[in-house]
Amino acid sequence: MSKNRNYRQDIRKDIRKYGGDILRSDNFKSSAKNIQHSNVSVMKHSMKVAYASMWITRKLRLKCNKEDLVRGALLHDYFLYDWHDDDHRGLKNLHGFYHPGVALKNAMAEYTLTERQKNIISSHMWPLTFRHIPKCKEAWVVTAADKYVSTMESLRLNKLTKTERIRSRIK
Ligand SMILES: [Fe+2]
Ligand SMILES: [Fe+2]
Repeated sequence: MSKNRNYRQDIRKDIRKYGGDILRSDNFKSSAKNIQHSNVSVMKHSMKVAYASMWITRKLRLKCNKEDLVRGALLHDYFLYDWHDDDHRGLKNLHGFYHPGVALKNAMAEYTLTERQKNIISSHMWPLTFRHIPKCKEAWVVTAADKYVSTMESLRLNKLTKTERIRSRIK
């Protein structure tokens, strides 16, 4: 087995180990129907951010708390609505500012969060939400991973959208 394949499997194993209960929960799964960017769901986006966060810590050899990193990344966009919906249309332009607070409130209602996990969720949009600053390595990593993944999704540069684009052309 190649070294690359090994580390990808290690990351997926850690995500299941530390975030398995979140991944299996009905509310998390319900975010599969909410679109984040392009045609990527909030559920898929959150999983990608968790993967990218783990990948960054591995590449940069950062000593992070893996449990906080995975759980904070999986819950960073736990706002549980579709921000493209008519219900949110009026507030659409403000979604970027207020959704970390909604995500934190929802996550706290269901899970016992550590201070690091709370900080990851509330500061992931920094510097847009300038008063909520990342205060730990884990929060800096997730905010960077989120920006990277979001940019790739918005520019439709990820493999999933590319494959789906080809499929839609064939149909
Ligand atoms: Fe977000
Ligand atoms: Fe995000």
